[in-house]
Amino acid sequence: MTRQRRLHINAALALLASFVLPDLAQAQDPSDIGRALLRENCASCHAIGKTGDSPRAGAPPFRGLSRSYDLDAFPRQLQRGVVSGHPDMPEFRFNEADARAAGVYLRSIQE
Ligand code: HEC
Repeated sequence: MTRQRRLHINAALALLASFVLPDLAQAQDPSDIGRALLRENCASCHAIGKTGDSPRAGAPPFRGLSRSYDLDAFPRQLQRGVVSGHPDMPEFRFNEADARAAGVYLRSIQE
């Protein structure tokens, strides 16, 4: 391949990436984003899926949360950082979009 041709291909790839990548980010399902956030922040203690036990004894599996929480109000609670009095849980404060995504995911796993 000539040097010029390679440059051309690189430029084309860069252009393609600048159009395609933002679209991909936007197309991501909020529920997937919510699951990823909860996996990162909560899954060391809580079961975050439709099945399975919580790794941490006493931490309620998230699929039962709607029994004690109003899931419509929960995203707002996540934003304020008010999530029960966890003994050794770091304080979490979600931004609005993340809290909403977490809410969408939580709703999808309720039993
Ligand atoms: C270090 C372990 C740990 C992490 C990490 C953790 N939790 Fe908890 N969580 C607990 C324990 C233990 C309980 C049960 C005891 C309690 O309520 O204080 C609990 C209880 C809860 C409850 C229920 C309280 C109730 O009244 O039933 C909610 C809701 C909750 N956690 C949400 C979260 C969310 C959301 C995250 C992630 C952003 C998270 N937790 C991360 C340990 C943890």
